[in-house]
Amino acid sequence: MSKSFKTFLKHTAKDFHNQSVNPPVVRASTIIFKSMQHIRKTQAKARKNPTGGHYDYGRQGTSTTHILQKILTKLEESYHVFTTPTGFGSVFLAIFSVVRPGDEMMVADPVYSPTRLLTQDYLKEFNIKTVFYNPHDLKTLQKNITKKTKLIFVENPGSNSFEFQDLAKITSIAKKNKVLTAIDNTWATPYYFKPIKFGFDMSIVSATKYYSGHSDVMGGSLAVNKKVFNKVKAAERITGLRLGPDDAYLITRGLRTLDVRLDRHSDNAKRVAAFLSKNKKFKLLYPYKKDSFNFRMWKKYYSGASGLMGLKIKSKNINSVRKFVNSLKLFGYGYSWGGFESLVLHQELRETGNRKFLNLAKDEHLVRLHIGLEDPNDLIADIKQALRHLK
Ligand SMILES: Cc1ncc(COP(=O)(O)O)c(C=O)c1O
Repeated sequence: MSKSFKTFLKHTAKDFHNQSVNPPVVRASTIIFKSMQHIRKTQAKARKNPTGGHYDYGRQGTSTTHILQKILTKLEESYHVFTTPTGFGSVFLAIFSVVRPGDEMMVADPVYSPTRLLTQDYLKEFNIKTVFYNPHDLKTLQKNITKKTKLIFVENPGSNSFEFQDLAKITSIAKKNKVLTAIDNTWATPYYFKPIKFGFDMSIVSATKYYSGHSDVMGGSLAVNKKVFNKVKAAERITGLRLGPDDAYLITRGLRTLDVRLDRHSDNAKRVAAFLSKNKKFKLLYPYKKDSFNFRMWKKYYSGASGLMGLKIKSKNINSVRKFVNSLKLFGYGYSWGGFESLVLHQELRETGNRKFLNLAKDEHLVRLHIGLEDPNDLIADIKQALRHLK
């Protein structure tokens, strides 16, 4: 990309044909052609240039989805980006594309809990074995790789517990053992870290979060390098996992302001983190404390931090933890994150999954905060008043 990321997002995808700043939503199941020869010519073009946006049926996309894919391919600096109806659809597509019965996978212990359930339980029924590794002890990754291991699946930082891993060590272990790699990069997006450029084979972002940014659309993206492109393309075709044009339009619209929103989420989160880090009642789970391993790993690989953070609260009084959360007035109670608004969740064990390496004591509780685009002084004042209840 010759222009900066920020300028590119504002100037891309103008529609001079319709004379609109934004491209139209093209909805189609049937793609209509001028003649049979025209159909055959388009199909020949699609075979020759499979990333080029030539379609003969709506399930393959329309110009609206293709425009989004082209923008994301540039942002990711990848070979291609596939788009799916949800972020979890992209997680599934990545795994389904490269793992077969009899294979094994290494998965980071703190992955998003549906990713855990998919790998640990569901894929087991298809004779695919998953071994979870400790994100802060990569010997547990290295020593469990066998000849059958096909994929290392990373999520960085860890879901709810926010561990940052040594990504260069992971890609180096993978290359040495000829194992493919995938990373869930939803927390950072390619604005703060570009996994494919770094050396991962596949990179997932839930577009439901920061890409769309307004909590009103679901989608996923799976960026790939050339090595895995054909495998993912074949799996995409057979699963029918495709994003619809209305959602693609909304995600493209969200991307226009991705940089502005993420910069503000990041500034606000830093202000809130500075306040939270002084409190002795909990440990802040965010790359803030300069002498911590997590901070060093974040600094080594990322150019910024987004708005999602956690608190590990030590309290024998769970009701006081609930009261603290319930007393917040500017934080909504609800799943997902990455929209313009602040959110909070008190995590149950069900949501952190049956983790091997979480080491959460009985009197320790996880609270997740998404720091939105409100005035950070208001957010800090709100947290301050709610903290009175924490015992
Ligand atoms: C890290 C991460 N990856 C993937 C997903 C799944 O995305 P979606 O909700 O769009 O299916 C989520 C959703 O919360 C997530 O937090």
